[in-house]
Amino acid sequence: ATPSEPYEVVVIGGGPGGYVAAIKAAQLGLKTACIEKRGSLGGTCLNVGCIPSKAMLNNSHMYHQAQHDMKRRGIDVSGVSLNLPVMLQAKDAAVAGLTKGIEFLFKQNGVDYIKGAASFVSPTRISVQLLEGGGTEVDAKSVIIATGSEVAPFPGGDIPIDEKQIVSSTGVLDLQQVPERLVVIGGGIIGLEMGSVWSRLGADVTVVEFLGAIGGAGIDGEVAKQFQRLLTKQGLKFKLNTKVVSAEKTDDGKVSLKMEAAAGGKEEVLDADVVLVAVGRRPYVEGLNLEAIGVEMDNKGRIVIDDQFNTSVKNIKCIGDVTFGPMLAHKAEEEGIAAAEFLKTGHGHVNYNAIPSVVYTHPEVAWVGKTEQELKTAGVQFSVGKFNFSANSRAKTNLDTEGFVKILAEKETDKILGVHIIGPNAGEMISEGVLAMEYGASAEDVARTSHAHPTLSEAFKEACMAAFAKPIHM
Ligand code: FAD
Ligand code: NAI
Repeated sequence: ATPSEPYEVVVIGGGPGGYVAAIKAAQLGLKTACIEKRGSLGGTCLNVGCIPSKAMLNNSHMYHQAQHDMKRRGIDVSGVSLNLPVMLQAKDAAVAGLTKGIEFLFKQNGVDYIKGAASFVSPTRISVQLLEGGGTEVDAKSVIIATGSEVAPFPGGDIPIDEKQIVSSTGVLDLQQVPERLVVIGGGIIGLEMGSVWSRLGADVTVVEFLGAIGGAGIDGEVAKQFQRLLTKQGLKFKLNTKVVSAEKTDDGKVSLKMEAAAGGKEEVLDADVVLVAVGRRPYVEGLNLEAIGVEMDNKGRIVIDDQFNTSVKNIKCIGDVTFGPMLAHKAEEEGIAAAEFLKTGHGHVNYNAIPSVVYTHPEVAWVGKTEQELKTAGVQFSVGKFNFSANSRAKTNLDTEGFVKILAEKETDKILGVHIIGPNAGEMISEGVLAMEYGASAEDVARTSHAHPTLSEAFKEACMAAFAKPIHM
């Protein structure tokens, strides 16, 4: 398009928020372009986040199983060894296939893909510095900002990331050899997922966490405890209530980390071959020129929006990691669809109470809705239904029995308010909890729904039974 042919919608950023918004807008009949500067679509999630990390989690799990878990299943394997270059190639192939797939979807749906970095000239005109060189300008009636987030640097700033020895989530997905000793700063989702990967591949992993529990924000306290116990059994070490103060490269090629108790106190030193900094992510707006057009941001750098994704500038909406809410791909996607629908129809919907979280370790950890702690704080009376996988026939058959399903239901109405799962396939199973909450189901509604036997999801049904009566098998 030239400036004389305005788009109805221009989406800035081709991550899960942006590319989904662009496809939905085009499907709704709006003339749409998506500007992405990375050179490939899919954003953080596909390129350096969800997808490559899950490739490494899946394949490192198989390696670990082949080494440590096959014998008791009657499978004698010998000569198991790691071919890290091939494992990394498999990850890269998954990423390449999926990013190309989005390009195809753009073509299929008629979204114009503009490869370059966007900057606002005015609320309706955007200049693009093209990746192939040179620039162009596009006009847009409406704009959706979906520029995502970036790695938060270590607070205090004296741990510079070189992506080789002191790495962020990006570098840790591409280590060319297994570090002898990996120290992870931050026991949140990235720290635990990537710590698991390298521990399975043979690294000695220590996770240093500022808080007294692992798992990051939103995790249920009881789940977090069991999670830590299981990861410890797998060989990860944890230093909780501890903060890293500094990291320095030493002459012998290592990194020396100084840390102290979170509450202050004696210093301790830990040496590492590789350090992963995983202390969170922050909104990314660099180069957008937002100040010039008056888009408001809050004190955490998030773009401020109302409940219809409108920024402080009338024709500009914003979705995904760069605004409020959990930094999750599926949350960004829901917002992308809703924002496009608002533009076309004036209606859209995201239920923030029913956005699941999943940690893709083994066992997986997944939750949706409120935790026990949150309900107590809010003074809500609730009942707890719990069912252990050790009493589930399929988990037993699979020799994979660690963990439980926990249902939190409102005492008076039996309405499901929260679901917390640690166990095999928790990430798939949590969708049942999301669906139940979306439809306002009671624990009894789910308990009276037939679940195929023998499946792990029967543990979900029995946890629901336990919330209002008694389970059969425990
Ligand atoms: P992003 O995916 O960050 O995309 C924004 C895009 O905008 C980027 O590609 C960027 O290049 C582009 N952009 C920025 N500025 C401009 C500009 N001026 N012009 C043009 N383009 C621009 N979430 C999950 O739900 N499940 C997971 O398993 C999961 N695993 C993760 C693992 C890791 C290691 C990391 C780091 C994150 C993970 N996440 C996961 C989080 C997930 O990646 C993000 O929540 C998601 O990518 C956010 O989508 P988004 O569209 O808002 O932003
Ligand atoms: P996080 O917010 O999940 O965890 C960061 C952890 O670091 C917290 O527990 C925090 O207490 C700790 N921390 C902060 N400063 C510290 C310090 N100085 N010393 C020690 N510990 C410190 O952030 P993380 O793991 O970096 O992930 C960022 C985001 O990416 C997540 O919030 C999540 O939204 C997304 N993500 C999602 C995944 C999934 O859905 N499976 C996987 C990976 C990332």
